[in-house]
Amino acid sequence: MKILFLGPPGAGKGTHASIVASQLNIPQISTGAILREAMSEETALGKTAKDFVDKGLLVPDDIIIDLVRERIARDDCKDGYILDGFPRTVAQAESLDGISQLDAIINIELDDESIVKRLSGRRVCKDCGATYHLSRLGNRVLCEQCSGDLIQRNDDKAETVLNRLTVYHSQTAPLVEYYKGSGRMYALDGALPIEEGGRILSGILQNVHVNAGAAN
Ligand code: AP5
Repeated sequence: MKILFLGPPGAGKGTHASIVASQLNIPQISTGAILREAMSEETALGKTAKDFVDKGLLVPDDIIIDLVRERIARDDCKDGYILDGFPRTVAQAESLDGISQLDAIINIELDDESIVKRLSGRRVCKDCGATYHLSRLGNRVLCEQCSGDLIQRNDDKAETVLNRLTVYHSQTAPLVEYYKGSGRMYALDGALPIEEGGRILSGILQNVHVNAGAAN
């Protein structure tokens, strides 16, 4: 199955994408995570991306499109994949249409005020990238999966979050209109507790799977 998670920053794309990826045993392709890894390794891609990511701006389309094209051509994507954070411009969506057809687009909806609250409290593992929120961390200061240090992402600082929201509304929100006519877009309320959202999502994906089977 090929699934896209769409939605504003902090809506829960990465959280749900990682759960579904392990349930379906297909890779989660997060362009944000790929860029962060490149930045921490200071590769050529990382050095170019840093100026954009740290300001909350989008990395140029041609760089991102090449990166995703190469990633989904790999062997581990032959049974499907989950796109988390790509496409986020109409140009990226049009390029993706030329490479692959998505089975489901999950549009996670969340208002700006909740997003600011969520992102200011997000902490991520420096080593494995697992995501947490201060409100649920209790006394824990290390990652429960790999014991790495928990840090705040550079682009989760208040001013950058506001820039990311502006960029989302101007450049990524038009994708909701873009995919509306496809008959493959499903809305998910990002304000629901993660477990409840996950149950609703499982039901949606089950139907997509059954319908895909019936169509073949
Ligand atoms: P990226 O990493 O994709 O960031 P984003 O889209 O801004 O998304 P986030 O990772 O911030 O949020 P999320 O929706 O995954 O939420 P999460 O599950 O973590 O991109 C970063 C940057 O890279 C971009 O700004 C851009 O510069 C560049 N980039 C990436 N892709 C690009 C592209 N295609 N083109 C150009 N540039 C690109 O959850 C957030 C928090 O909320 C967590 O603390 C989590 O624990 C908590 N939470 C999640 N769900 C719930 C819930 N239901 N209830 C309560 N808390 C919840």
